[in-house]
Amino acid sequence: MENIIDLRSDTVTKPSKEMLEYMLKAEVGDDVYGEDPTINSLQEEVAAMFGKESGLFVPSGTMSNQICIALNTMPGEEIIADSNSHIFFYENGAPAKLSGTQIFPIESTNGEIPLEKIEQAIRPDVYYFPKTSMIELENTHNRHGGTIISINYIKEVYELAKEYNIKLHLDGARIWNAHAITGIPFNEYGKYFNTISVCFSKGLGAPVGSMLLSTQENIQKALKIRKTFGGGMRQAGILAAAAKFALKNNLPKLIEDHRKALEFGKILSNSEFISIDLNSIQTNIVMFDLDKRINITNFINQLKNQNILLSGVGGNRIRVVFHLNITFEEALYSASTIKELSNKLIKN
Ligand SMILES: Cc1ncc(COP(=O)(O)O)c(C=O)c1O
Repeated sequence: MENIIDLRSDTVTKPSKEMLEYMLKAEVGDDVYGEDPTINSLQEEVAAMFGKESGLFVPSGTMSNQICIALNTMPGEEIIADSNSHIFFYENGAPAKLSGTQIFPIESTNGEIPLEKIEQAIRPDVYYFPKTSMIELENTHNRHGGTIISINYIKEVYELAKEYNIKLHLDGARIWNAHAITGIPFNEYGKYFNTISVCFSKGLGAPVGSMLLSTQENIQKALKIRKTFGGGMRQAGILAAAAKFALKNNLPKLIEDHRKALEFGKILSNSEFISIDLNSIQTNIVMFDLDKRINITNFINQLKNQNILLSGVGGNRIRVVFHLNITFEEALYSASTIKELSNKLIKN
């Protein structure tokens, strides 16, 4: 194929002509003064979707998570999170750096930490223990391969957090993908979390932008934290317009990415030298393991020479992510190419 098939992430999408045209028409103002009408309208729209009082538009998912951490914790306190969570794995130790908090990482099954393990990790009120002030869940879960956290599990963690008076945060960078499969309304997810972070720049296909959602009071505090973290933007309504366009036009298409992922996975499941669990393909992310005899760096480079980009996530494990810039045909073609290459590298 001539085109580059970029399966490294759903963050690689480029804005369509229609999205760019919509952005060009956006009314803008200085958002640090709260005067950007497009941002204000997006904040209201998304807060209402999730049944939250208020929202705050920020440049990235990392900033959104970190503002929520700053809201929910005090220096010297502790956060319980999955050991593969984005806030623990990929955010540069920011909870320690920006909020003075540490993470208590716990292994989970597909993002669901057993409740008894959470309860055991909650610190008793003893003077030499850090206070547990936040529990974090990620839905869908990136490093577990786009797995969905069940609403029943969320309710159980919510009850536990309430019992111990601990704040519950959702990293919902890909909550859109969970919703596309479960059909659970966003405002149902919204009920259980004190703070929620969502991203427009992943599967929804906007070039930039995330939002945190919470109470009016928290969002007022978050305004100050966003400025402190350097995230106050000016005429960013053009970006909010892209997010609005994405919610209207791309949210309904997410289900197609899940179909691409599953059909891709089915082809790989017939390969002798690739192991893949089809049950783990729940949304748009696919994880698979190459036979140990295959050198993963060589494998990735050879695919790159054939215009297919994907990434290793540790050991011989590869992650591919489907998104709106990948066609169904490209999904099938890349699976066949990957399968052929694994055969070739072992048999030659
Ligand atoms: C689950 C999750 N949370 C947060 C982020 C951070 O988003 P950003 O790259 O916009 O900082 C990502 C990015 O991939 C993610 O996958």
